[in-house]
Amino acid sequence: MAISRFLAFLQVQVPGATEHRITDIFKPLASPAAAERDIAWFTIAVTAVIFIVVASIIVYTIARFRRRPGDDLHQEPAQVYGSNQIELAWTVIPILIVFVLIGVTARVVWSVENASPPPSTLHLKVIGHQWWWEVQYPDYGITTANEIHVPFSSDGKEATYLELSSADVAHSFWVPQLSGKTDLIPNRLNYMWIDPRQGGVYVGNCAEYCGTQHANMLLRVVAEDRSAFQAWAQGQQKALASSDVSAGRAAFESLSCINCHVIKGTKAIGKFGPDLSHLASRSTLAAGMITNTPENLKKWINDPQEVKPGCLMPSLKLGGPELDQLVSYLGSLK
Ligand code: CUA
Repeated sequence: MAISRFLAFLQVQVPGATEHRITDIFKPLASPAAAERDIAWFTIAVTAVIFIVVASIIVYTIARFRRRPGDDLHQEPAQVYGSNQIELAWTVIPILIVFVLIGVTARVVWSVENASPPPSTLHLKVIGHQWWWEVQYPDYGITTANEIHVPFSSDGKEATYLELSSADVAHSFWVPQLSGKTDLIPNRLNYMWIDPRQGGVYVGNCAEYCGTQHANMLLRVVAEDRSAFQAWAQGQQKALASSDVSAGRAAFESLSCINCHVIKGTKAIGKFGPDLSHLASRSTLAAGMITNTPENLKKWINDPQEVKPGCLMPSLKLGGPELDQLVSYLGSLK
């Protein structure tokens, strides 16, 4: 079940976008991830040499000093005590190796954390919730969820800085092809940055156990060129109102939905759940678990606990026509 859900997650596509679905730290597509890939290979190389040396000595010793016919079973091998050379060799060499690994790692951590932002830098706030991601764009007055739109550039001139915090428990932001993990901790601000070099959708997930639906706290970074990003941001700034769906809107405003969700231009100003002002512009529902289709949206509203057991959205037990109106209203929020 878990595997089929995971595979379903990988198949959710944003129309027209390249999907970077392989969550592989060895295929980085942003500077922090590339620096971290290099340090990973360096560490693997050093430890591989240690492994080969130690394993060769063990194999050699087993073969060279094995019991042979005619050996005197009561005779001890030569006992070596107090050899300064041997003691020094197996103390100094490991210490040197450890210091080299610490030093090189610290240098990379320092350079990633203290990199100065390029001029056109987008600043975002990402807030972890059980079990979804709130994403605020303070410069644009936008709030969205689970799908983070950012500009990309092949020359690294566009970067996005993320201020990470949590509304409840510890979470961890991880999009392997863009950067290493950074925790989202209650009452604390952490920072990270990404500079995707290719357009497309990068998949990631929460990387710190945060409760029963931790594994379904999925995340997508949609990297677009500047103009597509600006167009998206402008679209998100609008409050939508279509008279075709006024019955659904009235239903929405009459229900307890408004206590937890925001829809721009309506009575809904709840901050507890995801902002729904442009729900239909997102490709997934329930933090990346299911594709955003009218059928799935209906299933989700009808009984969120069936789709995502333990999630904090209650089932409203709506009847047929009201549910359909609600689904067409929410589906109109592009
Ligand atoms: Cu959030 Cu694990």
